[in-house]
Amino acid sequence: MCTFTASKEKKMSKRYTITAALPYTNGPIHIGHLAGVYVPADIYARYKRLTGNDVAFICGSDEHGVPITIKAKKEGVTPQQIVDRYHKIIKDSFEVFGITFDNYSRTSAKIHHDTASEFFKTLYDKNEFVEEVSEQLYDAEANQFLADRFVVGTCPKCGNEESYGDQCENCGTSHNATDLINPKSAITGNVPTLKETKHWFLPLNKHEQFLKDWILEGHKKDWKPNVYGQVKSWIDDGLRPRAVTRDLDWGIPVPVPGGEGKVLYVWFDAPIGYISATKEWAAREGKDWEPYWKDEDTKLVHFIGKDNIVFHCIIFPAMLKAEGSYILPDNVPANEFLNLEGNKLSTSKNWAVWLPEYLQDFPDKQDVLRYALTANAPETKDNDFTWKDFQARNNNELVAIFGNFINRVVVLTNKYYNGIVPTPSDFSTIDEETLAAIKAYPSVLESSIERYRFREASQELMNLARLGNKYLADEEPWKLVKTDEDRTKTIMFVALQIASALATLSEPFLPFTSTKLKNILNLSSEELQTSWSEITSKEILLPANHTIGKAELLFSKIEDSEIQAQLDKLEASKKANEAANKVVEPQKDTITFDDFTKLDLRVGTILEAEKMPKAKKLLVLKVDTGIDVRTIVSGIAESFTAEEVVGKKVTVLVNLAPRALRGVESEGMILMTETPEGKLVFVNPDDTTIGNGLQIS
Ligand code: 2FM
Ligand code: ZN
Repeated sequence: MCTFTASKEKKMSKRYTITAALPYTNGPIHIGHLAGVYVPADIYARYKRLTGNDVAFICGSDEHGVPITIKAKKEGVTPQQIVDRYHKIIKDSFEVFGITFDNYSRTSAKIHHDTASEFFKTLYDKNEFVEEVSEQLYDAEANQFLADRFVVGTCPKCGNEESYGDQCENCGTSHNATDLINPKSAITGNVPTLKETKHWFLPLNKHEQFLKDWILEGHKKDWKPNVYGQVKSWIDDGLRPRAVTRDLDWGIPVPVPGGEGKVLYVWFDAPIGYISATKEWAAREGKDWEPYWKDEDTKLVHFIGKDNIVFHCIIFPAMLKAEGSYILPDNVPANEFLNLEGNKLSTSKNWAVWLPEYLQDFPDKQDVLRYALTANAPETKDNDFTWKDFQARNNNELVAIFGNFINRVVVLTNKYYNGIVPTPSDFSTIDEETLAAIKAYPSVLESSIERYRFREASQELMNLARLGNKYLADEEPWKLVKTDEDRTKTIMFVALQIASALATLSEPFLPFTSTKLKNILNLSSEELQTSWSEITSKEILLPANHTIGKAELLFSKIEDSEIQAQLDKLEASKKANEAANKVVEPQKDTITFDDFTKLDLRVGTILEAEKMPKAKKLLVLKVDTGIDVRTIVSGIAESFTAEEVVGKKVTVLVNLAPRALRGVESEGMILMTETPEGKLVFVNPDDTTIGNGLQIS
């Protein structure tokens, strides 16, 4: 019989508060959010639950902030209508996608308003704020102060000309609106003036030493280098007081004297949302929320994208420290960004794969997206999502490796033994090695997950399926079945143990597949379920004589046409967006009929064309104008190749004064215009019936 060495010791259960960044409620979730935050957070939360820990996995909608009011204004609705719409869309799509939040709350909830107000008041009472009247940017036409995204200008750090008032999306720097160079109002486009107003500032400088000790000394080794590096550079630059209130009317009212007409800065209230969502959950479950935020034994982990690092590693911890009764995050495993088909994901440009649309197009393929995003996660650097890679991850890994192994095991067990797990005989060396390898997998995966290397973990999981395929390919039960019944039974028994381990270990990564596989293996009853740690400690995972179910495909091939449809959809949305954002040039000044008659327009034929060397836009053409053959340099090379214009009939302005372009004398102009979609087209004389030309006489 096999020589499993049972390790019976049980891991100590621990309390975990796991948070995932609260998404802004001004649009649905896209793959960038999933890859950066929600998929890794869910893998971690599922894994922690599976390994017997007490987990509160918390998230909710971030419903305040300027982008929501801008969107509401644009649509002519109230901010509340915007957040109600997207809160539902986001919450529903997370659920269908299988993200297992213990609570998905929202910052417009009363419990959050109360919690955030109380938090602010505590800091106020403890004199943790600096109250200051200062000059802030003001748009006189809009009659409004310009906070955060209401103002754009040049980032003082990296020179990005489209930085927002509170943060530059290019370099991630978080700054005050008055730091921007050449600020402009995002509402009217006006250059703002300065106007005095009172605000409450969190003096980050006061917390500098604590932050240095806690992060730079305390977390040098265990925080990801990208997170540690960004925090260090912030602290090295010197910390300054940050305003935590705003002159806006959408948000949580400032709850202290003098706060009338002002609200809390969205980045002050949003992270407190983690606390209020925990309170809401605890009340519902009949639990005490406080240990999840105040007990030193609790491990607090924030999953975020890289643009949120400063808020979670500096500002929120400074707030928690100032309040005094809260624990600090143990880790903040922020990811970098995911790009899409080589371009930055962009909500405003509609360059994204939206979760609700994905779920509509691929209703039973949640795990495929989850796997593709994990296997290619932007953990250490920005990464690119391509539909081709998505297809390859599905077809070459999930179908060809994982699915294929399970299918072979289940089909053969049904075929040879009517679905009954056979009794093994003596194990060979390879069997022993394979069974020992299965036992090692929980700690292999654990080691990757504990270091927040989910990409590596997903590949290790696939390696277990690879091991299964190799085992079957090497042992060839389909050949032995005719000659060696006992050996075949032993091989199938071992293969079934791998299948059972996969059913448990795949749960954090491929939750829908794991459930499906447990059903196929008929593992619904309690005593047949193998827990994560039992894979190492249990002698046998799937006992002889247990009856499994029928084969059912876990994954199906994704065809080229399905991928092309997604690429076409992206292209179409890019075009539609370009057209929608196209600025229509206003009509030029009126000209007289006499002015017009000065133009000598002729129908010409392009006889020759060649690209002007080192000029992206220029073609050098030889054109027969009917009067003569002349050289015309035309700026159409980005829309037409030299080959395709030869022989073309064109309209030529022949009496334009000659001018030299890059050393070539151009003697006229080819008339072109743009379609409403922005495509450059020839003013086509083929349609004309005006004989030899369009000469105006
Ligand atoms: O960047 C964002 O989408 C923010 N809404 C994240 C907030 S995280 C937390 F602090 F609530
Ligand atoms: Zn910048």
